[in-house]
Amino acid sequence: MLSPFLIDIAYIAAAVLFVFGLKMLSKADTAQRGNQLSSMGMLIALVATLLYGGLDYTYIVAGLVIGGGVGLFAAKTVAMTGMPEMVALFNGTGGIASLLVGWAEFHQTFVETTNSGVVGYSSFTLGSIFLASLIGGLTFTGSIVAWGKLSGKMPGRPMLFPGQQAFNVLLLLVAVGAGIAFSMVGDLADPLMTAKYDIFLVVVATGLLLGILAVIGIGGADMPVVIALLNSYSGLAACATGFIIVNKVLIVSGALVGASGLILTTIMCKAMNRSLSNVLFSGFGSTTSGGPGKKNEGEAKVINAEDAFLVLEAASSVVIVPGYGMAVAQAQHAVRELGDMLEENGCEVKYAIHPVAGRMPGHMNVLLAEANVPYEQLVEPDDVNPIIETVDVCMVIGANDVVNPAAREDDTSPIYGMPIIDVDKARTTFVLKRSLGAGYAGIGNPLFFRDNTRMLLGDAKDSVSTLVAEFKQD
Ligand code: TAP
Repeated sequence: MLSPFLIDIAYIAAAVLFVFGLKMLSKADTAQRGNQLSSMGMLIALVATLLYGGLDYTYIVAGLVIGGGVGLFAAKTVAMTGMPEMVALFNGTGGIASLLVGWAEFHQTFVETTNSGVVGYSSFTLGSIFLASLIGGLTFTGSIVAWGKLSGKMPGRPMLFPGQQAFNVLLLLVAVGAGIAFSMVGDLADPLMTAKYDIFLVVVATGLLLGILAVIGIGGADMPVVIALLNSYSGLAACATGFIIVNKVLIVSGALVGASGLILTTIMCKAMNRSLSNVLFSGFGSTTSGGPGKKNEGEAKVINAEDAFLVLEAASSVVIVPGYGMAVAQAQHAVRELGDMLEENGCEVKYAIHPVAGRMPGHMNVLLAEANVPYEQLVEPDDVNPIIETVDVCMVIGANDVVNPAAREDDTSPIYGMPIIDVDKARTTFVLKRSLGAGYAGIGNPLFFRDNTRMLLGDAKDSVSTLVAEFKQD
Protein backbone atom coordinates (compact mmCIF):
# COMPACT_ATOMS: atom_id res chain seq x y z
CA MET A 1 0.00 0.00 0.00
CA LEU A 2 1.26 3.52 -0.78
CA SER A 3 1.55 6.25 1.82
CA PRO A 4 -0.72 9.30 1.32
CA PHE A 5 2.40 11.33 0.50
CA LEU A 6 3.41 9.00 -2.34
CA ILE A 7 -0.15 8.90 -3.63
CA ASP A 8 -0.15 12.71 -3.77
CA ILE A 9 3.16 12.67 -5.66
CA ALA A 10 1.71 10.15 -8.14
CA TYR A 11 -1.37 12.37 -8.58
CA ILE A 12 0.78 15.42 -9.27
CA ALA A 13 2.78 13.44 -11.85
CA ALA A 14 -0.50 12.30 -13.46
CA ALA A 15 -1.85 15.87 -13.57
CA VAL A 16 1.36 17.14 -15.19
CA LEU A 17 1.16 14.37 -17.81
CA PHE A 18 -2.50 15.26 -18.51
CA VAL A 19 -1.61 18.92 -19.08
CA PHE A 20 1.36 18.19 -21.36
CA GLY A 21 -0.60 15.46 -23.16
CA LEU A 22 -3.46 17.89 -23.85
CA LYS A 23 -1.05 20.53 -25.10
CA MET A 24 0.52 18.03 -27.51
CA LEU A 25 -2.92 17.03 -28.81
CA SER A 26 -3.27 20.46 -30.42
CA LYS A 27 -0.77 19.61 -33.20
CA ALA A 28 -1.16 16.68 -35.59
CA ASP A 29 2.49 15.61 -35.47
CA THR A 30 2.58 15.47 -31.66
CA ALA A 31 -1.01 14.32 -31.09
CA GLN A 32 -0.24 10.61 -30.93
CA ARG A 33 2.49 11.08 -28.32
CA GLY A 34 0.23 13.47 -26.42
CA ASN A 35 -2.41 10.76 -26.29
CA GLN A 36 0.13 8.24 -25.00
CA LEU A 37 1.36 10.72 -22.39
CA SER A 38 -2.16 11.38 -21.10
CA SER A 39 -2.90 7.63 -21.04
CA MET A 40 0.28 7.13 -19.01
CA GLY A 41 -0.95 9.80 -16.58
CA MET A 42 -4.28 7.98 -16.29
CA LEU A 43 -2.50 4.68 -15.63
CA ILE A 44 -0.39 6.25 -12.86
CA ALA A 45 -3.50 7.84 -11.31
CA LEU A 46 -5.37 4.51 -11.46
CA VAL A 47 -2.55 2.46 -9.96
CA ALA A 48 -2.00 5.04 -7.19
CA THR A 49 -5.73 5.00 -6.39
CA LEU A 50 -5.81 1.20 -6.32
CA LEU A 51 -2.93 1.24 -3.81
CA TYR A 52 -4.96 3.22 -1.27
CA GLY A 53 -5.24 1.19 1.92
CA GLY A 54 -8.47 -0.58 2.91
CA LEU A 55 -10.09 -1.12 -0.50
CA ASP A 56 -12.33 -4.08 -1.26
CA TYR A 57 -11.03 -5.27 -4.61
CA THR A 58 -13.94 -7.59 -5.44
CA TYR A 59 -16.17 -4.90 -6.92
CA ILE A 60 -13.23 -2.99 -8.37
CA VAL A 61 -12.02 -6.01 -10.34
CA ALA A 62 -15.58 -6.81 -11.45
CA GLY A 63 -16.02 -3.21 -12.61
CA LEU A 64 -12.67 -3.21 -14.40
CA VAL A 65 -13.42 -6.46 -16.22
CA ILE A 66 -16.96 -5.51 -17.27
CA GLY A 67 -16.24 -1.83 -18.07
CA GLY A 68 -12.88 -2.56 -19.70
CA GLY A 69 -14.39 -5.39 -21.74
CA VAL A 70 -17.28 -3.27 -23.02
CA GLY A 71 -14.92 -0.35 -23.77
CA LEU A 72 -12.45 -2.56 -25.62
CA PHE A 73 -15.18 -4.23 -27.65
CA ALA A 74 -16.76 -0.87 -28.53
CA ALA A 75 -13.43 0.72 -29.51
CA LYS A 76 -12.47 -2.26 -31.69
CA THR A 77 -15.80 -2.57 -33.48
CA VAL A 78 -16.91 1.03 -33.95
CA ALA A 79 -16.75 2.30 -37.53
CA MET A 80 -15.10 5.67 -38.08
CA THR A 81 -18.52 7.07 -39.01
CA GLY A 82 -19.90 5.88 -35.67
CA MET A 83 -17.26 7.67 -33.61
CA PRO A 84 -19.40 10.72 -32.68
CA GLU A 85 -22.15 8.42 -31.35
CA MET A 86 -19.61 6.52 -29.32
CA VAL A 87 -18.19 9.72 -27.83
CA ALA A 88 -21.75 10.69 -26.90
CA LEU A 89 -22.24 7.38 -25.09
CA PHE A 90 -18.90 7.70 -23.29
CA ASN A 91 -19.84 11.18 -22.05
CA GLY A 92 -23.11 9.73 -20.83
CA THR A 93 -21.37 7.01 -18.85
CA GLY A 94 -19.10 9.65 -17.26
CA GLY A 95 -22.20 11.59 -16.23
CA ILE A 96 -24.03 8.62 -14.73
CA ALA A 97 -20.86 7.54 -12.88
CA SER A 98 -20.69 10.95 -11.17
CA LEU A 99 -24.38 10.78 -10.31
CA LEU A 100 -24.01 7.30 -8.82
CA VAL A 101 -20.90 8.16 -6.79
CA GLY A 102 -22.66 11.25 -5.43
CA TRP A 103 -25.74 9.18 -4.61
CA ALA A 104 -23.70 6.43 -2.91
CA GLU A 105 -21.81 8.95 -0.76
CA PHE A 106 -25.03 10.72 0.21
CA HIS A 107 -26.80 7.45 0.97
CA GLN A 108 -23.99 6.26 3.21
CA THR A 109 -23.90 9.52 5.20
CA PHE A 110 -27.70 9.53 5.40
CA VAL A 111 -27.76 6.02 6.87
CA GLU A 112 -24.93 6.83 9.31
CA THR A 113 -26.61 10.07 10.39
CA THR A 114 -29.98 8.32 10.90
CA ASN A 115 -28.41 5.46 12.88
CA SER A 116 -26.10 7.54 15.07
CA GLY A 117 -28.30 10.60 15.52
CA VAL A 118 -25.20 12.73 14.83
CA VAL A 119 -25.30 14.97 11.75
CA GLY A 120 -22.55 13.73 9.41
CA TYR A 121 -23.08 16.24 6.58
CA SER A 122 -21.20 19.39 5.70
CA SER A 123 -22.76 21.98 3.41
CA PHE A 124 -19.70 21.84 1.17
CA THR A 125 -19.97 18.08 0.58
CA LEU A 126 -23.74 18.30 0.11
CA GLY A 127 -23.25 21.13 -2.39
CA SER A 128 -20.73 18.97 -4.28
CA ILE A 129 -23.15 16.01 -4.22
CA PHE A 130 -25.87 18.28 -5.60
CA LEU A 131 -23.64 19.51 -8.46
CA ALA A 132 -22.29 16.03 -9.31
CA SER A 133 -25.81 14.57 -9.34
CA LEU A 134 -27.52 17.37 -11.26
CA ILE A 135 -24.80 17.85 -13.88
CA GLY A 136 -24.07 14.10 -14.06
CA GLY A 137 -27.76 13.29 -14.51
CA LEU A 138 -28.37 15.82 -17.26
CA THR A 139 -25.15 14.77 -19.00
CA PHE A 140 -26.36 11.17 -18.95
CA THR A 141 -29.81 11.69 -20.44
CA GLY A 142 -28.64 14.51 -22.76
CA SER A 143 -25.91 12.23 -24.13
CA ILE A 144 -28.37 9.39 -24.70
CA VAL A 145 -30.63 11.73 -26.69
CA ALA A 146 -27.59 13.04 -28.65
CA TRP A 147 -26.59 9.43 -29.36
CA GLY A 148 -30.15 8.64 -30.50
CA LYS A 149 -30.22 11.61 -32.87
CA LEU A 150 -26.80 10.94 -34.36
CA SER A 151 -27.41 7.23 -34.85
CA GLY A 152 -30.80 7.84 -36.46
CA LYS A 153 -32.62 6.00 -33.64
CA MET A 154 -34.46 9.26 -32.97
CA PRO A 155 -35.60 11.92 -35.46
CA GLY A 156 -32.77 14.40 -36.08
CA ARG A 157 -35.02 17.43 -36.31
CA PRO A 158 -35.54 19.56 -33.19
CA MET A 159 -38.58 18.43 -31.21
CA LEU A 160 -40.20 21.59 -29.94
CA PHE A 161 -43.37 22.16 -27.93
CA PRO A 162 -44.96 25.45 -26.92
CA GLY A 163 -43.35 26.94 -23.82
CA GLN A 164 -40.43 24.50 -23.93
CA GLN A 165 -37.75 27.08 -23.07
CA ALA A 166 -39.84 28.52 -20.23
CA PHE A 167 -40.44 25.02 -18.88
CA ASN A 168 -36.70 24.25 -19.03
CA VAL A 169 -35.92 27.46 -17.14
CA LEU A 170 -38.55 26.51 -14.56
CA LEU A 171 -36.99 23.06 -14.17
CA LEU A 172 -33.57 24.62 -13.70
CA LEU A 173 -34.94 26.97 -11.05
CA VAL A 174 -36.55 24.00 -9.25
CA ALA A 175 -33.22 22.14 -9.40
CA VAL A 176 -31.24 25.10 -8.06
CA GLY A 177 -33.83 25.74 -5.31
CA ALA A 178 -33.77 22.06 -4.33
CA GLY A 179 -29.95 22.17 -4.41
CA ILE A 180 -29.82 25.10 -1.99
CA ALA A 181 -32.27 23.39 0.37
CA PHE A 182 -30.32 20.13 0.03
CA SER A 183 -27.01 21.79 0.92
CA MET A 184 -28.31 23.32 4.17
CA VAL A 185 -27.32 21.61 7.38
CA GLY A 186 -29.27 21.95 10.62
CA ASP A 187 -30.52 19.91 13.60
CA LEU A 188 -31.79 16.46 12.80
CA ALA A 189 -35.34 17.51 13.69
CA ASP A 190 -35.21 20.36 11.17
CA PRO A 191 -37.78 19.78 8.33
CA LEU A 192 -35.02 20.34 5.75
CA MET A 193 -33.04 17.55 7.36
CA THR A 194 -35.92 15.07 7.57
CA ALA A 195 -36.80 15.71 3.94
CA LYS A 196 -33.18 15.49 2.72
CA TYR A 197 -33.58 12.25 0.79
CA ASP A 198 -36.75 13.46 -0.92
CA ILE A 199 -35.06 16.71 -1.89
CA PHE A 200 -32.13 14.73 -3.29
CA LEU A 201 -34.52 12.66 -5.42
CA VAL A 202 -36.04 15.89 -6.76
CA VAL A 203 -32.52 17.02 -7.76
CA VAL A 204 -31.87 13.72 -9.54
CA ALA A 205 -35.23 13.72 -11.32
CA THR A 206 -34.92 17.33 -12.51
CA GLY A 207 -31.36 16.69 -13.72
CA LEU A 208 -32.41 13.64 -15.74
CA LEU A 209 -35.44 15.45 -17.20
CA LEU A 210 -33.47 18.60 -18.02
CA GLY A 211 -30.96 16.58 -20.07
CA ILE A 212 -33.75 15.14 -22.21
CA LEU A 213 -35.71 18.36 -22.65
CA ALA A 214 -32.64 20.50 -23.38
CA VAL A 215 -31.30 18.20 -26.10
CA ILE A 216 -34.50 17.08 -27.89
CA GLY A 217 -35.02 20.73 -28.89
CA ILE A 218 -31.68 20.83 -30.73
CA GLY A 219 -31.35 19.62 -34.32
CA GLY A 220 -29.17 16.69 -35.38
CA ALA A 221 -26.81 19.01 -37.29
CA ASP A 222 -25.86 20.70 -34.03
CA MET A 223 -25.21 17.47 -32.14
CA PRO A 224 -21.38 17.74 -32.42
CA VAL A 225 -21.56 21.04 -30.52
CA VAL A 226 -23.92 19.51 -27.98
CA ILE A 227 -21.58 16.55 -27.54
CA ALA A 228 -18.60 18.85 -26.91
CA LEU A 229 -20.69 20.74 -24.36
CA LEU A 230 -21.86 17.53 -22.68
CA ASN A 231 -18.23 16.41 -22.61
CA SER A 232 -17.46 19.60 -20.73
CA TYR A 233 -20.37 18.91 -18.34
CA SER A 234 -19.16 15.36 -17.72
CA GLY A 235 -15.81 16.90 -16.70
CA LEU A 236 -17.49 19.36 -14.34
CA ALA A 237 -19.56 16.55 -12.79
CA ALA A 238 -16.36 14.50 -12.30
CA CYS A 239 -14.68 17.54 -10.75
CA ALA A 240 -17.57 17.90 -8.26
CA THR A 241 -17.29 14.16 -7.55
CA GLY A 242 -13.59 14.70 -6.81
CA PHE A 243 -14.60 17.18 -4.09
CA ILE A 244 -17.08 14.67 -2.63
CA ILE A 245 -14.60 11.82 -2.30
CA VAL A 246 -11.64 14.20 -1.75
CA ASN A 247 -9.65 12.91 -4.70
CA LYS A 248 -7.27 15.50 -6.10
CA VAL A 249 -6.58 13.87 -9.45
CA LEU A 250 -10.30 13.59 -10.17
CA ILE A 251 -10.71 17.29 -9.41
CA VAL A 252 -7.83 18.20 -11.74
CA SER A 253 -8.79 15.87 -14.60
CA GLY A 254 -12.47 16.85 -14.31
CA ALA A 255 -11.55 20.54 -14.49
CA LEU A 256 -9.33 19.87 -17.54
CA VAL A 257 -12.13 18.03 -19.34
CA GLY A 258 -14.60 20.75 -18.36
CA ALA A 259 -12.38 23.55 -19.67
CA SER A 260 -11.25 21.81 -22.87
CA GLY A 261 -14.83 20.79 -23.73
CA LEU A 262 -15.92 24.39 -23.34
CA ILE A 263 -13.06 25.66 -25.53
CA LEU A 264 -13.96 23.12 -28.23
CA THR A 265 -17.62 24.16 -28.05
CA THR A 266 -16.62 27.80 -28.56
CA ILE A 267 -14.36 26.92 -31.52
CA MET A 268 -17.19 25.03 -33.22
CA CYS A 269 -19.71 27.82 -32.66
CA LYS A 270 -17.24 30.30 -34.14
CA ALA A 271 -16.71 28.06 -37.18
CA MET A 272 -20.46 28.21 -37.81
CA ASN A 273 -20.63 31.92 -36.94
CA ARG A 274 -23.31 31.17 -34.37
CA SER A 275 -23.53 31.87 -30.68
CA LEU A 276 -23.84 29.06 -28.19
CA SER A 277 -27.28 30.31 -27.18
CA ASN A 278 -28.34 30.17 -30.84
CA VAL A 279 -27.19 26.53 -31.02
CA LEU A 280 -28.91 25.63 -27.75
CA PHE A 281 -32.16 27.53 -28.03
CA SER A 282 -32.96 28.37 -31.68
CA GLY A 283 -34.18 24.90 -32.71
CA PHE A 284 -31.93 25.17 -35.81
CA GLY A 285 -33.11 22.77 -38.51
CA SER A 286 -36.79 22.85 -37.52
CA THR A 287 -39.29 24.27 -40.00
CA THR A 288 -39.68 27.35 -37.82
CA SER A 289 -36.01 28.26 -37.42
CA GLY A 290 -34.57 30.84 -39.78
CA GLY A 291 -36.12 31.54 -43.15
CA PRO A 292 -36.87 29.03 -45.86
CA GLY A 293 -34.00 30.24 -48.05
CA LYS A 294 -34.37 31.18 -51.72
CA LYS A 295 -35.51 28.55 -54.20
CA ASN A 296 -32.71 27.13 -56.29
CA GLU A 297 -33.31 27.54 -59.99
CA GLY A 298 -31.63 26.23 -63.12
CA GLU A 299 -30.44 22.86 -64.21
CA ALA A 300 -27.60 20.90 -62.70
CA LYS A 301 -24.99 19.73 -65.22
CA VAL A 302 -24.07 16.12 -64.69
CA ILE A 303 -20.64 14.84 -65.76
CA ASN A 304 -19.33 11.29 -65.99
CA ALA A 305 -16.00 10.10 -64.57
CA GLU A 306 -14.37 9.81 -67.99
CA ASP A 307 -15.01 13.47 -68.84
CA ALA A 308 -14.09 14.57 -65.30
CA PHE A 309 -10.77 12.74 -65.74
CA LEU A 310 -9.98 14.75 -68.88
CA VAL A 311 -10.49 18.03 -66.98
CA LEU A 312 -8.41 16.79 -64.03
CA GLU A 313 -5.63 15.61 -66.30
CA ALA A 314 -5.28 19.11 -67.71
CA ALA A 315 -5.50 20.87 -64.32
CA SER A 316 -2.44 22.41 -62.71
CA SER A 317 -4.08 23.07 -59.33
CA VAL A 318 -6.75 21.02 -57.56
CA VAL A 319 -8.32 21.66 -54.17
CA ILE A 320 -10.12 18.70 -52.62
CA VAL A 321 -12.89 19.60 -50.16
CA PRO A 322 -14.03 16.57 -48.16
CA GLY A 323 -17.23 16.36 -46.14
CA TYR A 324 -19.40 13.89 -44.26
CA GLY A 325 -20.12 11.89 -47.45
CA MET A 326 -16.44 10.99 -47.75
CA ALA A 327 -16.66 9.44 -44.29
CA VAL A 328 -19.85 7.55 -45.19
CA ALA A 329 -18.31 6.23 -48.40
CA GLN A 330 -14.97 5.53 -46.64
CA ALA A 331 -13.41 7.10 -49.70
CA GLN A 332 -10.35 8.58 -47.98
CA HIS A 333 -7.84 6.02 -49.29
CA ALA A 334 -9.11 6.34 -52.86
CA VAL A 335 -9.02 10.14 -52.46
CA ARG A 336 -5.38 10.05 -51.38
CA GLU A 337 -4.54 7.78 -54.29
CA LEU A 338 -6.18 10.25 -56.66
CA GLY A 339 -4.29 13.12 -54.99
CA ASP A 340 -1.00 11.26 -55.48
CA MET A 341 -1.75 10.63 -59.15
CA LEU A 342 -2.64 14.25 -59.76
CA GLU A 343 0.67 15.26 -58.18
CA GLU A 344 2.57 12.77 -60.31
CA ASN A 345 0.87 14.45 -63.23
CA GLY A 346 2.45 17.79 -62.19
CA CYS A 347 -0.63 19.22 -60.48
CA GLU A 348 -0.56 21.03 -57.13
CA VAL A 349 -3.00 19.33 -54.74
CA LYS A 350 -4.40 20.72 -51.50
CA TYR A 351 -7.08 19.43 -49.14
CA ALA A 352 -9.25 22.22 -47.74
CA ILE A 353 -10.80 21.25 -44.41
CA HIS A 354 -13.74 23.15 -43.01
CA PRO A 355 -13.71 23.03 -39.18
CA VAL A 356 -17.25 21.60 -39.01
CA ALA A 357 -17.11 19.30 -42.04
CA GLY A 358 -18.37 15.88 -41.02
CA ARG A 359 -19.98 15.03 -37.75
CA MET A 360 -17.28 15.64 -35.16
CA PRO A 361 -14.40 18.03 -34.59
CA GLY A 362 -11.38 17.01 -36.66
CA HIS A 363 -13.43 14.32 -38.48
CA MET A 364 -11.84 15.01 -41.87
CA ASN A 365 -8.34 15.40 -40.42
CA VAL A 366 -8.62 11.98 -38.77
CA LEU A 367 -9.79 10.29 -41.98
CA LEU A 368 -7.13 11.91 -44.14
CA ALA A 369 -4.42 11.13 -41.58
CA GLU A 370 -5.60 7.50 -41.61
CA ALA A 371 -5.06 7.53 -45.39
CA ASN A 372 -1.57 9.06 -44.89
CA VAL A 373 -2.32 12.35 -46.62
CA PRO A 374 0.71 14.56 -45.79
CA TYR A 375 -0.24 17.09 -43.14
CA GLU A 376 1.36 19.94 -45.15
CA GLN A 377 -1.26 19.45 -47.86
CA LEU A 378 -4.14 20.27 -45.49
CA VAL A 379 -5.30 23.90 -45.57
CA GLU A 380 -8.01 25.87 -43.80
CA PRO A 381 -10.76 27.96 -45.43
CA ASP A 382 -8.89 31.18 -44.62
CA ASP A 383 -5.84 29.89 -46.53
CA VAL A 384 -7.72 28.77 -49.59
CA ASN A 385 -10.57 31.27 -50.00
CA PRO A 386 -8.34 34.23 -50.96
CA ILE A 387 -6.76 32.25 -53.83
CA ILE A 388 -9.74 30.11 -54.83
CA GLU A 389 -10.33 32.04 -58.08
CA THR A 390 -6.94 30.82 -59.34
CA VAL A 391 -7.73 27.16 -58.61
CA ASP A 392 -8.40 25.08 -61.73
CA VAL A 393 -10.61 22.43 -60.12
CA CYS A 394 -12.28 22.20 -56.75
CA MET A 395 -13.38 18.65 -55.99
CA VAL A 396 -16.12 18.60 -53.38
CA ILE A 397 -16.28 15.06 -52.04
CA GLY A 398 -19.42 14.38 -50.00
CA ALA A 399 -19.54 17.91 -48.58
CA ASN A 400 -22.63 20.04 -48.84
CA ASP A 401 -23.46 22.62 -46.14
CA VAL A 402 -19.82 23.72 -45.74
CA VAL A 403 -19.66 24.73 -49.43
CA ASN A 404 -23.18 26.15 -49.75
CA PRO A 405 -22.93 29.69 -51.23
CA ALA A 406 -26.34 30.51 -49.70
CA ALA A 407 -24.41 31.04 -46.48
CA ARG A 408 -22.73 34.01 -48.17
CA GLU A 409 -25.44 35.27 -50.50
CA ASP A 410 -28.91 34.50 -49.18
CA ASP A 411 -29.84 36.39 -46.05
CA THR A 412 -33.08 34.37 -45.77
CA SER A 413 -31.17 31.09 -45.50
CA PRO A 414 -30.89 29.46 -42.06
CA ILE A 415 -27.14 29.06 -42.60
CA TYR A 416 -26.63 32.68 -43.67
CA GLY A 417 -23.39 33.98 -42.15
CA MET A 418 -21.77 30.57 -41.65
CA PRO A 419 -18.21 30.73 -43.04
CA ILE A 420 -17.88 28.40 -46.03
CA ILE A 421 -15.23 27.29 -48.48
CA ASP A 422 -15.97 29.38 -51.61
CA VAL A 423 -15.71 26.50 -54.08
CA ASP A 424 -18.24 28.21 -56.37
CA LYS A 425 -15.53 30.77 -57.22
CA ALA A 426 -13.05 28.21 -58.57
CA ARG A 427 -12.66 27.88 -62.35
CA THR A 428 -14.41 24.50 -62.31
CA THR A 429 -16.07 22.69 -59.42
CA PHE A 430 -16.88 18.99 -59.33
CA VAL A 431 -19.40 17.92 -56.71
CA LEU A 432 -19.25 14.21 -55.88
CA LYS A 433 -22.38 12.99 -54.13
CA ARG A 434 -25.19 10.57 -54.77
CA SER A 435 -28.04 12.98 -55.54
CA LEU A 436 -29.00 16.64 -55.63
CA GLY A 437 -30.36 16.24 -52.10
CA ALA A 438 -29.68 18.54 -49.15
CA GLY A 439 -26.96 18.23 -46.51
CA TYR A 440 -27.40 17.90 -42.78
CA ALA A 441 -28.90 21.38 -42.37
CA GLY A 442 -31.69 20.21 -44.69
CA ILE A 443 -31.46 23.11 -47.14
CA GLY A 444 -30.92 23.19 -50.90
CA ASN A 445 -27.56 24.11 -52.37
CA PRO A 446 -27.40 26.64 -55.26
CA LEU A 447 -23.82 25.48 -55.93
CA PHE A 448 -25.19 22.50 -57.88
CA PHE A 449 -26.78 24.85 -60.44
CA ARG A 450 -23.84 27.16 -61.09
CA ASP A 451 -22.38 27.38 -64.62
CA ASN A 452 -18.94 26.23 -63.48
CA THR A 453 -20.28 23.28 -61.42
CA ARG A 454 -20.42 19.71 -62.68
CA MET A 455 -22.16 17.01 -60.67
CA LEU A 456 -20.37 13.64 -60.56
CA LEU A 457 -23.19 11.59 -59.11
CA GLY A 458 -22.72 8.30 -57.27
CA ASP A 459 -21.04 6.90 -54.21
CA ALA A 460 -17.91 8.97 -53.55
CA LYS A 461 -15.62 5.94 -53.28
CA ASP A 462 -16.89 4.49 -56.57
CA SER A 463 -16.53 7.83 -58.38
CA VAL A 464 -13.02 8.50 -57.06
CA SER A 465 -11.95 4.91 -57.75
CA THR A 466 -13.14 5.26 -61.35
CA LEU A 467 -11.08 8.45 -61.69
CA VAL A 468 -8.05 6.62 -60.27
CA ALA A 469 -8.61 3.79 -62.76
CA GLU A 470 -8.70 6.34 -65.59
CA PHE A 471 -5.36 7.79 -64.47
CA LYS A 472 -3.86 4.28 -64.26
CA GLN A 473 -5.05 3.44 -67.79
CA ASP A 474 -3.64 6.66 -69.16
P1 TAP B 1 -23.40 17.56 -45.06
O1 TAP B 1 -23.84 18.95 -45.27
O2 TAP B 1 -24.13 16.72 -44.10
O3 TAP B 1 -23.40 16.85 -46.49
C1 TAP B 1 -22.91 15.56 -46.66
C2 TAP B 1 -23.28 15.12 -48.05
O4 TAP B 1 -22.65 13.87 -48.28
C3 TAP B 1 -24.77 14.90 -48.22
O5 TAP B 1 -25.36 15.96 -48.91
C4 TAP B 1 -24.86 13.57 -49.01
O6 TAP B 1 -25.50 13.81 -50.24
C5 TAP B 1 -23.40 13.21 -49.25
N1 TAP B 1 -23.15 11.78 -49.10
C6 TAP B 1 -23.61 10.94 -48.16
N2 TAP B 1 -23.19 9.69 -48.38
C7 TAP B 1 -22.43 9.75 -49.50
C8 TAP B 1 -21.71 8.78 -50.24
N3 TAP B 1 -21.67 7.47 -49.89
N4 TAP B 1 -21.04 9.18 -51.35
C9 TAP B 1 -21.08 10.48 -51.73
N5 TAP B 1 -21.74 11.43 -51.07
C10 TAP B 1 -22.41 11.07 -49.96
O7 TAP B 1 -21.86 17.48 -44.65
P2 TAP B 1 -20.76 18.62 -44.50
O8 TAP B 1 -20.67 19.46 -45.73
O9 TAP B 1 -19.55 17.88 -44.07
O10 TAP B 1 -21.31 19.56 -43.37
C11 TAP B 1 -21.35 19.17 -42.00
C12 TAP B 1 -22.67 19.56 -41.36
O11 TAP B 1 -22.66 19.18 -39.97
C13 TAP B 1 -22.91 21.04 -41.38
O12 TAP B 1 -24.28 21.28 -41.40
C14 TAP B 1 -22.35 21.48 -40.05
O13 TAP B 1 -22.86 22.71 -39.57
C15 TAP B 1 -22.82 20.33 -39.18
N6 TAP B 1 -22.03 20.36 -37.96
C16 TAP B 1 -20.84 19.75 -37.93
C17 TAP B 1 -20.06 19.87 -36.79
C18 TAP B 1 -18.72 19.20 -36.75
S1 TAP B 1 -17.78 19.47 -35.49
N7 TAP B 1 -18.32 18.43 -37.70
C19 TAP B 1 -20.51 20.61 -35.70
C20 TAP B 1 -21.75 21.20 -35.78
C21 TAP B 1 -22.51 21.08 -36.92
P3 TAP B 1 -26.24 12.60 -51.01
O14 TAP B 1 -27.21 12.02 -50.05
O15 TAP B 1 -26.85 13.24 -52.20
O16 TAP B 1 -25.17 11.62 -51.39
